[in-house]
Amino acid sequence: MKTIRIFDTTLRDGEQSPGCSMNAREKLEMAKQLEKLGVDIMEAGFAASSPGDFNSVKSIADTIKDSTVASLARAVPADIEKAGEAVKGAVSPRIHTFIATSPIHMKYKLMMEPDAVIESAVNAVKLSKKYVSDVEFSAEDATRSDTDFLAKIVDAVIKAGATTINLPDTVGYTTPEEFTRFLLEVREKCPALDDAILSVHCHNDLGLGVANSLSSIAAGAGQIECTINGIGERAGNAALEEIVMAMKTRKDLYDADTRIVTKEIMRTSQMLTRITGVKVQPNKAIVGENAFAHEAGIHQDGVLKNKQTYEIMTPESIGITEKNLVLGKHSGRAALKARIEELGYEISEEELSVAFEKFKNIADKKKEVYDSDIEAIVTKETVQVPKTYELVRFVSNSGNTITATTIVCLKIDGEEIEEVGVGDGPIDAAFDAMSKIVGRKLELEDYSLRSVTEGEDALGDATVILRDPAYRKKTMRTKGRGLSTDVIESSLTAYINALNKLIYEEKINEERN
Ligand code: KIV
Ligand code: ZN
Repeated sequence: MKTIRIFDTTLRDGEQSPGCSMNAREKLEMAKQLEKLGVDIMEAGFAASSPGDFNSVKSIADTIKDSTVASLARAVPADIEKAGEAVKGAVSPRIHTFIATSPIHMKYKLMMEPDAVIESAVNAVKLSKKYVSDVEFSAEDATRSDTDFLAKIVDAVIKAGATTINLPDTVGYTTPEEFTRFLLEVREKCPALDDAILSVHCHNDLGLGVANSLSSIAAGAGQIECTINGIGERAGNAALEEIVMAMKTRKDLYDADTRIVTKEIMRTSQMLTRITGVKVQPNKAIVGENAFAHEAGIHQDGVLKNKQTYEIMTPESIGITEKNLVLGKHSGRAALKARIEELGYEISEEELSVAFEKFKNIADKKKEVYDSDIEAIVTKETVQVPKTYELVRFVSNSGNTITATTIVCLKIDGEEIEEVGVGDGPIDAAFDAMSKIVGRKLELEDYSLRSVTEGEDALGDATVILRDPAYRKKTMRTKGRGLSTDVIESSLTAYINALNKLIYEEKINEERN
């Protein structure tokens, strides 16, 4: 049976998608989980794109031991130098360099002649080889490129030292049958490809990302690029969890498998959701809330008699376990720490103090504290920035016959400031009070609230995305999360966390300039 390498690009292509940006600390947290998931290669970012990205790629490269760490680089010397510098501390470093090869990209985007494109690609690979031995070359928009030209450029970069050749469906244009034929055609025209690992990278514009990726196996692909939850540019990339579980469930068909530790799939998906605030749809394959829920009576009856009547894979195989009561209000700091570590998080003593305080508050209000509650506390508490604003207290008054009011008191530099807000409901009024205290116009770009576990005393997990309209840069959009059994408190905390991040990012930007 063939083993397909899984190249995860959640932290690069995935992170490029709207609403999915992560700060360096969040990326490192995610990278550690991807390592546990067993990805063969993780693309940590695009080192040359900003100093922040460089540092983030570097810290991931310096930390991760069991996966290859790659940085993306355009086929230009400055990018490759940065990528080489950023990944040099990795146990297994890779430079992933790319240039577009389709007529439309070469003519309008690059404004380069085909021969010049080949020359740049070859020079990029040769320069990459000075930094690392593991070099991947991608022919961007390969599926809309001429196969004779592709064969020529691929042959040249392999001779220059490229060890993996990626032929991406950059715009999600191809279909499964066409893609298999296309890959076989390039292989036939370029025998040198037999000495390299053939990789694919499929976008999901026509909803075919996963199907196309799987169809590459028949054409000899040895690496598939994908992202957790399928996040990525536009309609996203092929979803890692779907590709992996399709291969595992249909080994008979593909005669191929991966090294992914499938029991870590759910945790990885949920961690990404918690960090980005971007949820998957309930009916999303593998990781959606309903993916293993049998609602119809006939189905339930069948499953009770024999699970295989309607279940082609088990929830346990992706790490869904019965929600287990782990801790209660009498549990101590050591028990919390032990459970956090069992769940796979690393936590400093300082972070543990914050998490423990939060845990105690929740345990006081909630009857049962589940793993998902603890994970929510930890993920939230490990991505803190300096607390410029802190919530002191709030009082809300609302009803169906009165205008809602919320009084909010915040502490700023040791001084307490209080304002009254009005709105359509208590949360709207709370945000109105926040704007008055902050005294500047911030756009509430997104707000959502979900319960972490079930039941009347479930934790409310709020996400707020704030944007400063005075800035046009992507970095001036920040996301905050708040967790409490009281939804107004979780919403206010999420707002304050987003606000503190915004202030922190602005300060860093000012210092940089
Ligand atoms: O979609 C694409 O072509 C890419 C390349 C940079 C691999 O993301
Ligand atoms: Zn892509």
